[in-house]
Amino acid sequence: MNYNTYFDTHIQALKDSGHYRYFLEVNKSAQHFPKFYFQDSDGVKQSAINWCSNDYLAQSVHEEVISKLSFAANRAGVGSGGTRNISGTTTYHKELEDTLAKLHHKEGALLFSGAYLANVTTLSTLGKLIPNLIFISDERNHASMVEGIKASKNQKIIFRHNDIIHLGEILASLPFDQPKVIVFESVYSINGNIAPVPQVAALAKLYNSLTYIDEVHAVGLYGEDGGGITSLHHVQSEINIINGTLAKGFGVIGGYIAANQNIIDAIRSFGSGFIFTTSLPPAMCAAAIKSIQLVQGNPELRNQYHQRVKLLRQIFSLHEIPFLNNESHITNILIGDPSLCRKIANKLLHESGIYIQPIFYPTVPQGEECLRITLTARHTQDQMEALANSLRTVLDDLMPAKHKATAYG
Ligand SMILES: Cc1ncc(COP(=O)(O)O)c(C=O)c1O
Repeated sequence: MNYNTYFDTHIQALKDSGHYRYFLEVNKSAQHFPKFYFQDSDGVKQSAINWCSNDYLAQSVHEEVISKLSFAANRAGVGSGGTRNISGTTTYHKELEDTLAKLHHKEGALLFSGAYLANVTTLSTLGKLIPNLIFISDERNHASMVEGIKASKNQKIIFRHNDIIHLGEILASLPFDQPKVIVFESVYSINGNIAPVPQVAALAKLYNSLTYIDEVHAVGLYGEDGGGITSLHHVQSEINIINGTLAKGFGVIGGYIAANQNIIDAIRSFGSGFIFTTSLPPAMCAAAIKSIQLVQGNPELRNQYHQRVKLLRQIFSLHEIPFLNNESHITNILIGDPSLCRKIANKLLHESGIYIQPIFYPTVPQGEECLRITLTARHTQDQMEALANSLRTVLDDLMPAKHKATAYG
């Protein structure tokens, strides 16, 4: 076998399909966020406004979070130097897990390098611990949950996206004593749909099912204390396992689960992706604790953020820019063609200094290529107006017939 030819052929096929990914090198500026710098193809320094960051509350550039990070790094060093079991559990890790448990009104929490790993490890370990456990999974679940379920090798049943009736039918078809877990997200990362969490919790109770929710795009942003959609609806105790990230609403890095102590202890004791990897840097844990404290105690930050999402959408509507009308903070413009999607994004970047990374397969199914727009707490109204104006111009130019409408969905 010629390995080089093998890889070259695969990459060329990906390029031909229009799905090849090009990374923009973002020279991030804490001072000017969401503005950043980059070099164009001629090597000339340019600036642009980032409209696709998940640093929703701009916590990654919060002065107190940055200070805490450097203070703790000076005290504790950079890397932890060990797995959790072998000297890698510092006082910062313990304090962060306690903070997360409290945030989600749970007995315990467990840290991972990221929420991706938390999903893969927890779901695959659940399946191994309960061999005849059936996963009942939303069809739009994130790749990390899909991978975790696949790795467990347990049976999986897919329910239609956010379709509570279909979910109920599946649950009703299974024996009451059959071990089962409903796996879903609270805020879906790309289309921004919000799951009917209280209804899912009620069905789980009725049919004796465990529940596993990914609150990655909701923590920090929803609920009085920023605990996510489970906090918004006060159903933390009705969902068995809550997964979250420290890397989006909290602006740092790392992922976690929060649950009853016996579940936490089981994943801590049997989860490969928890056991066999170096723990998070202590200073990152310190920064995350600071960030959570700031966000948790500031409901006004959340209120203002959601008001500004509304304002952005009003501005879009005035410019007849069609977007998926969900109830979350994620604004999605469906393009439905990878080359066109890339062309639009390139034009926005190079002609208007607006950065929106086009979203392709496998992040979305083919034909659902889109522009996923995320507001942060630091975007100004002028930047919103500029975004709407530029989008209108580019859409008129590249897809005039299709893209003039108001919100849909
Ligand atoms: C729904 C969802 N879950 C999990 C993850 C992984 O989170 P992390 O970046 O903390 O690994 C992501 C990442 O974007 C996500 O969108």
